[in-house]
Amino acid sequence: MNVKVIYSTLTGNTKKVADAIAEEIGTTAEDVKNVVSIGDVDLLAVGTGCYNKSASKEIVKFLNSLDDLVGLKVILFGTYGFDDDALREMADILNAKSANIVGRWGCKGSLLYLLHNRGLPSEGDLMEARKFIRKLKETKKI
Ligand SMILES: Cc1cc2nc3c(=O)[nH]c(=O)nc-3n(C[C@H](O)[C@H](O)[C@H](O)COP(=O)(O)O)c2cc1C
Repeated sequence: MNVKVIYSTLTGNTKKVADAIAEEIGTTAEDVKNVVSIGDVDLLAVGTGCYNKSASKEIVKFLNSLDDLVGLKVILFGTYGFDDDALREMADILNAKSANIVGRWGCKGSLLYLLHNRGLPSEGDLMEARKFIRKLKETKKI
């Protein structure tokens, strides 16, 4: 199976989740800034932080640049301060391209002024992210 795990991060939180997910899937996560094309993939996992209620500009540009994705299995993931608007935004773009979103997962990420998010994602969060992937495998969704 050809898999790509692509993420966008400003302060490093989403990269932690991307790395955990990629390792569990058996691949390496790639920063969207280094991605030229997704090539011939069977599964795409894509993640972003949430910035001013949006996915990152880079990830939106990347998703918009993709051709029709009819039936392509997609996993969405992300980190956010308090609300997962960015996951919804990515889902809207991908649904419009007829992708098959098989799962989505997010957790809180630290942000300087959100003191209660300090240190997040935690090791426990990263374990949950891995569990989420294992569950998708067990249920044959990926
Ligand atoms: C400029 C900026 C804007 C943000 N805006 C939001 C927001 O609108 N909603 C939210 O839930 N979190 C917001 N956050 C918090 C981030 O989504 C959170 O810290 C996330 O874990 C960042 O991911 P990253 O470390 O991968 O960049 C914002 C963070 C920054 C730096």
